Amino acid sequence: MSDHRFQRCINHACQATYDVHEVLFACPACGDLLDVQYDWDRVEVPSSLNWFEGRWTRRVGTLDYSGVWRFRELLPFCDEEYCVTIGEGQTLLECNDGVAGYVGMNPGRVFLQYEGLNPSGSFKDNGMAAAFSHARLTGAKHVACASTGNTSAAVALYAHACGMKCTVFIGSGRIAYGKLSQALDYGAQTIQIQGNFDDCMRRVKQICGDRKLYLVNSLNPFRLEGQKAIMYRILEGLQWHTPDWIVAPGGNLGNSSAFGKAFAELAHLGLIDHIPRMAVINAAGANTLYDLYERRGIRFHNGQVDEAAINNYYNDLNARGYRPETVATAIEISRPVNLKKCLRSMEICNGIVREVPDEAIVEAKSVVGRYGLGCEPASGASIAGLRLLRQEDVIGPDETVACILTGHQLKDPAVTVKYHTQDEGAFSNQPIEVADDLDAVIAALGLAKS
Ligand code: F0G
Repeated sequence: MSDHRFQRCINHACQATYDVHEVLFACPACGDLLDVQYDWDRVEVPSSLNWFEGRWTRRVGTLDYSGVWRFRELLPFCDEEYCVTIGEGQTLLECNDGVAGYVGMNPGRVFLQYEGLNPSGSFKDNGMAAAFSHARLTGAKHVACASTGNTSAAVALYAHACGMKCTVFIGSGRIAYGKLSQALDYGAQTIQIQGNFDDCMRRVKQICGDRKLYLVNSLNPFRLEGQKAIMYRILEGLQWHTPDWIVAPGGNLGNSSAFGKAFAELAHLGLIDHIPRMAVINAAGANTLYDLYERRGIRFHNGQVDEAAINNYYNDLNARGYRPETVATAIEISRPVNLKKCLRSMEICNGIVREVPDEAIVEAKSVVGRYGLGCEPASGASIAGLRLLRQEDVIGPDETVACILTGHQLKDPAVTVKYHTQDEGAFSNQPIEVADDLDAVIAALGLAKS
């Protein structure tokens, strides 16, 4: 390749390379996933991560406000003129001792990376900033995605910023109202398919491949480049110290794929001295990764993944008519498109996978709310997973852990209201019904009459 940036097949037996100007969502040679790769010897990368602080302090242009593009030397696949931003990534890393106490960690050890602060209210905006930049680079006019909700909301917003048409495919009845309301409000052409996310994903791939629509799901390797920035901001929030653990929910496995790649690159560039471990948390009702990685021992093996075992697994799901089901609809996915890349991240980060039941997810979500941030159910899986890993003593109470809170609390108010009004959980906060009468209100408040 004459260029410093290119696309490359992740299968070590193939490793075919393609120009970044090509729009591809699978390797034309072998059908495997593609990566964006760089010839780092030809990229000017700062010699130390704290160089990036100067850019944040000065903020001379809109790209420096972006929590993705202010790290642009670490995802150098397009010139600045193509970079799209609507202010994504202005997030904070919060040390939260309330959550630490709940999960059994010592104070000062649990950090929450709150991606709900993004313009569309979820981590997806990091990826969309990059995917839409590539869409512009390649002259795309019409983008499409399948979604459990957050992707559709983010895509709809970024399509506006780029003047592109946008079509989103969602499963009927399996999308939280906060997210559906965003896609509709932002003007996305919304196709509701009678099926779930996996069904939508299959259809959108068919449509995009045949009709030249630009696919913005995390199959798109450029999208994952943007999601690497979530890790850069965690490092920044820890004064460039690497945490011991990253804990993230797993759905389509784009995040875990991007995070492992980010750390492998940072280590290769000598910008970090060690790579953190990673825990990916499945909902028990959508636990493909857990089944394959922990129960069946499927590993990346340098790109030589046991395809037959994975196909058998999926055939069995089909034969049983299995449908994933979890209260965390964002991660209600049984055929994660980035499975192989995630397995690679597990290899890079000495990763582990756990599954957590819906009750644990909803309770953990309410704990995040109680201690001051608020997140949607899928994000609660990170906290429930950390709690489980503490109970197992896989994570020690004094290790430093960064949990990703992937989406905002208001994305899925129905689950929250149900927990507080009907579930009678340990953290339920029932509204107090009272007659419209001053004395009754004072009594309900527990105050003495004056
Ligand atoms: N958390 C939230 C809030 C999500 O919306 C998603 C995925 C995930 C976690 C899982 O992340 O795919 O990187 O493992 N939502 C997608 C969507 C599928 O369509 O919005 P992942």
